[in-house]
Amino acid sequence: MHPVFPQETLIPPKILFKKGGLADLAKEVPELGSQGLIVHGASFEKNGLKGKVENDFKNVGIFAEFFSRTHGEPTLEEIRAVIAQGRKVKIDWIAGIGGGSVLDLAKAAAGLFNAKETPAYYQEGGSLKEKGIPFIAIPTTAGSGSEASPNAVIINPEKRSKLSIRDKSFTAKKVILDPELLKGLPFEVMCHSGMDAWVQAYESFISKYASWFSESMALKAMQLISRHLVPALNAQRDEDLEGLMLGSFLSGVAFSHSRLGVIHGIAHPLGVLYDVPHGLICSICFTPSIKLNLEAIGNQKYALMSQAVGMDLLQKVHELQKTLKITSPFKGKPLAEKEKIIVETLASGSTAANPKPITRQDVEYILNEIF
Ligand SMILES: [Fe+2]
Repeated sequence: MHPVFPQETLIPPKILFKKGGLADLAKEVPELGSQGLIVHGASFEKNGLKGKVENDFKNVGIFAEFFSRTHGEPTLEEIRAVIAQGRKVKIDWIAGIGGGSVLDLAKAAAGLFNAKETPAYYQEGGSLKEKGIPFIAIPTTAGSGSEASPNAVIINPEKRSKLSIRDKSFTAKKVILDPELLKGLPFEVMCHSGMDAWVQAYESFISKYASWFSESMALKAMQLISRHLVPALNAQRDEDLEGLMLGSFLSGVAFSHSRLGVIHGIAHPLGVLYDVPHGLICSICFTPSIKLNLEAIGNQKYALMSQAVGMDLLQKVHELQKTLKITSPFKGKPLAEKEKIIVETLASGSTAANPKPITRQDVEYILNEIF
């Protein structure tokens, strides 16, 4: 029988979905402790949000340290740096206010805050015995779905690899979904992160570990993202930003309970070797993945996805890519380190969840399509 629920459900116990919800952060943190650390991206200061949060905190007697990060995806070294800063002032909680990279860094630092071993040890699969401190997630993109997931994707520069650190205790204690924070996002950031969320929902829906629970979340996410992504990019109206933010969160809930697929398997090595946004890599692998998995997906699941996005799925993906002018940045470039990409894709936990068992030839097929 098809599983109804996953083996274990991991959902943040408090989810606040509210326009202007960031202002509620000061009401939410006191029960977690009076001292915290906020990991944030560059726009947090630029948009004047840092000053507002500091002011709100002052009014309720909360002290917060700030850790600002600027570019790229988080590394093992950065986790150590956040933990070191937090230990100096004995913090009670860590909040992440930013895109997927900021949230993943804040999540890993909170989860490993009291860990005895180095972050690398846990990335290599070591088990975590010490309890971390609470993590609060406030996404400013829609998105990676990181606010809903118990894993953090971290780069190991020495090994030139990108792997998750995962523990169920990493799940955020509180999530604030404030669609207002999406306002003013650069077109490319909103486009790529929105496509990432859509691909995640798709991979979750077709995953061989899917359950009715994860499928429901994934299908709703696909419906919301396909309906609201283009209008949100064009006009940034409230209802579209709300739909996009909710769709991204549901995509995170879905894949946290089903894992992903070959697109995320191949996106990680490609993301480390080439300086190309994760969401863009996911977008260009979308069509090859659907074609590769067509038989394994089956008519019924394919029809449900087509229904959710309002037309034939392959046609919809094609149409959207045309509208958003998404093309492969790899076309015409030499394919470097093909063997490393193939080996890492085949070893990936995401690839293991792909409905069609993935072979070396399948990875070569995707690479041929995008290079
Ligand atoms: Fe992703």
